[in-house]
Amino acid sequence: MVKICCLGAGYVGGPTMAVIALKCPSVEVVVVDISVARIAAWNSDQLPIYEPGLDDVVKKCRGRNLFFSTEIEKHIGQADIVFVSVNTPTKTRGLGAGMAADLTYWESAARMIADVAKSDKIVVEKSTVPVKTAEAIEKILIHNSKGINFQILSNPEFLAEGTAIQDLFNPDRVLIGGRETPEGKKAVQALKQVYANWVPEDRIITTNLWSAELSKLAANAFLAQRISSVNAISALCEATGADVAEVAYSVGKDTRIGPKFLSASVGFGGSCFQKDILSLVYICECNGLPEVASYWKDVIKVNDYQKSRFVNRVVSSMFNTVSEKKIAVLGFAFKKDTGDTRETPAIDVCKGLLGDKAKISIYDPQVSEEQIQRDLALKKFDWDHPVHLQPTSPTAVKQVTVTWDAYEATKGAHGVCILTEWDEFRKLDYVKIYENMQKPAFIFDGRNVIDPQKLRKIGFIVFSIGKPLDPWLKDMPAVV
Ligand code: NAI
Repeated sequence: MVKICCLGAGYVGGPTMAVIALKCPSVEVVVVDISVARIAAWNSDQLPIYEPGLDDVVKKCRGRNLFFSTEIEKHIGQADIVFVSVNTPTKTRGLGAGMAADLTYWESAARMIADVAKSDKIVVEKSTVPVKTAEAIEKILIHNSKGINFQILSNPEFLAEGTAIQDLFNPDRVLIGGRETPEGKKAVQALKQVYANWVPEDRIITTNLWSAELSKLAANAFLAQRISSVNAISALCEATGADVAEVAYSVGKDTRIGPKFLSASVGFGGSCFQKDILSLVYICECNGLPEVASYWKDVIKVNDYQKSRFVNRVVSSMFNTVSEKKIAVLGFAFKKDTGDTRETPAIDVCKGLLGDKAKISIYDPQVSEEQIQRDLALKKFDWDHPVHLQPTSPTAVKQVTVTWDAYEATKGAHGVCILTEWDEFRKLDYVKIYENMQKPAFIFDGRNVIDPQKLRKIGFIVFSIGKPLDPWLKDMPAVV
């Protein structure tokens, strides 16, 4: 029986290994983590992450060929293949702070593998890492190896949170990079055999190590760039009376461009896009490519612009001040169908409104008050370290309340900001919401989930990203 051990039971390690266990009954999979609480949650009925379909997969194989454990050394020792799926956040201090990937967790994982291994192993980079990381890891392993043979593979993960299980069941591609030596090729084949249990052969791409590592950074940069492109156009739509949905539809009909990932919004979030682009920018600068670095940096600049533009629109529409006004925020997660708030645009929007002394009432179906308060209290990039590794109990932000009900959040509010595209926000009773709000009642839709015409008929003053402006907003000073 092939034995797999995965270091890191997070958003990637947990779901990926659960699907491998489900699809490969003859493989034993053990997911290990330094967080006792996270492992306990994986072994309970309340999994540590919310992901549609995940509960089912875990229930089918946990205790059969899928195990979650904190006995890291034991399970690395027994494994043939060791996946490393630890966090690779942005460095917060020292050389490259605010840009370079922090490989502290990765390096300590590699040293642990070298320490406890007593037989040959294939070590798989599952985390997103800077190109050439495998070389550094190889050095750590080989110099501490005590004669054991390690083969390093790069097998970046392309799943998207919210659709992780579907993405893992039916991936566009699986990418495996390895050394072009006979041993390297053998290791690539061994990992390929695992995926071949359910992924068609023509979707399993094999490349050299550096192409695989760089492909993941490039893919995230391309995806984020599409969002920043449509968001940049959304600003021009508002200025001219064009409708970004119509423009995006017409643009996306071109088969060279395609329709996906062209929805304008308050900005992209999530743990990966910004950190991976920053890492790419840093690598370009280190390789003497300042023009390439600056090209990708602008993708983040536009994203930041989109978030501050949204805040400015809220404040300027409401007579240039939100001081002491109640603003309801619907949605805090960085996208629908996840409880993940890492780098969610809601953090910057809330901080912007708090800067203008607003009182904020937040509702998200999957995010707890504790998480929201922590996110709003943390400094930039500190969020990027796992919850259990973050400083505990930051002081709660007093002007923020969190409720478990959209109607409660919006009661008595002067304005509503929709910041996550949860399906339930399309079906809310907006007549009831309107009746319980202060007048004039404003709604700022950062995800284009509501129909502006319908809500204007109810009486709302509506702002929707990239849509022709409400007559009210046209008369307000243009500060965006
Ligand atoms: P995460 O923060 O949810 O999970 C990482 C886990 O690794 C944490 O539970 C942490 O305690 C654990 N860990 C850290 N050091 C460890 C060690 N030495 N031994 C054992 N466990 C250790 O992170 P997430 O989101 O799963 O991301 C992991 C990697 O995958 C990152 O490099 C990320 O960029 C990449 N990735 C993330 C995607 C996502 O959608 N979240 C998608 C594709 C790639």
